[in-house]
Amino acid sequence: MLLKNKIAIVTGSRMGIGLSIAEEFAKDGANLVIADLDLKDCQKVATQLKKKYKIKTLAVKCDVSKKNQVDDMVKIAAKQFKRIDILVNNAGIYPFTDFTKLTETEWDKVLDINLKSILLVSQAAVKHMKPGSNIINLSSIAGFIAFPGLVHYCASKSGMIGMTKVMALELGKKKIRVNAIAPGIIETPGTKGINKKAMLANVPLGRTGKPLDIAKAALFLASDMADYITGHTLVVDGGWITH
Ligand SMILES: NC(=O)c1ccc[n+]([C@@H]2O[C@H](COP(=O)([O-])OP(=O)(O)OC[C@H]3O[C@@H](n4cnc5c(N)ncnc54)[C@H](O)[C@@H]3O)[C@@H](O)[C@H]2O)c1
Repeated sequence: MLLKNKIAIVTGSRMGIGLSIAEEFAKDGANLVIADLDLKDCQKVATQLKKKYKIKTLAVKCDVSKKNQVDDMVKIAAKQFKRIDILVNNAGIYPFTDFTKLTETEWDKVLDINLKSILLVSQAAVKHMKPGSNIINLSSIAGFIAFPGLVHYCASKSGMIGMTKVMALELGKKKIRVNAIAPGIIETPGTKGINKKAMLANVPLGRTGKPLDIAKAALFLASDMADYITGHTLVVDGGWITH
């Protein structure tokens, strides 16, 4: 049990990668805060994980791009659990729009949800983190390579890699580790509409990723197995960006 009795917040955890990370952490003994846009969905996940893994859970509705909602979510979590050991900044969106057609509103929405949220949630959570705690940011291979139609997304995900390094530098003084994960193409509700067959030619391992592929990387980074790793972005992409 790598995370026994740890307290973990996972944002965007009602489905997809976030849900898989929450379940993998629960399996390994962590108590969980399930934070996402829909309270009923969060409660459903929280109840299932609590029952299945005999852990403590808390469901909170939270839009990670809204400071007041983030502050409330972290306050409620800290009140219930007294501290936060692990924060996974997973919530994110990836709408496709060509660069020439992208509006300021679309740009702001993606940057607010994907990037500003890292600042908001991490700042709030760090107040309740003791030495030995850690933060994991869900970046993407889109932080390293270009994808047409995703200029706002690519900007947010490379921004996150820079933020991860600076946060690691500053929070290192408090003995808090900060790392990122950069997934390749993963099968989630969010990528349902994406033609993955065409993408497979880019993947040396010849398959799309499963949410569990990312959850296992998150478990490693969140645990003491990674206690000398900080400021790092772990690429989990079946080898896509090696060529
Ligand atoms: N699936 C992939 O191929 C892939 C690849 C690289 C990176 N990622 C990153 O992994 C993360 C999860 O992706 P996914 O594919 O599981 O997505 P998904 O769309 O399947 O699930 C995302 C979850 O985030 C929640 N969310 C969205 N906006 C939110 C907000 N403002 N506040 C709180 N919650 C919000 C959604 O409600 C949903 O539950 C994202 O940050 C994404 O950019 C995914």
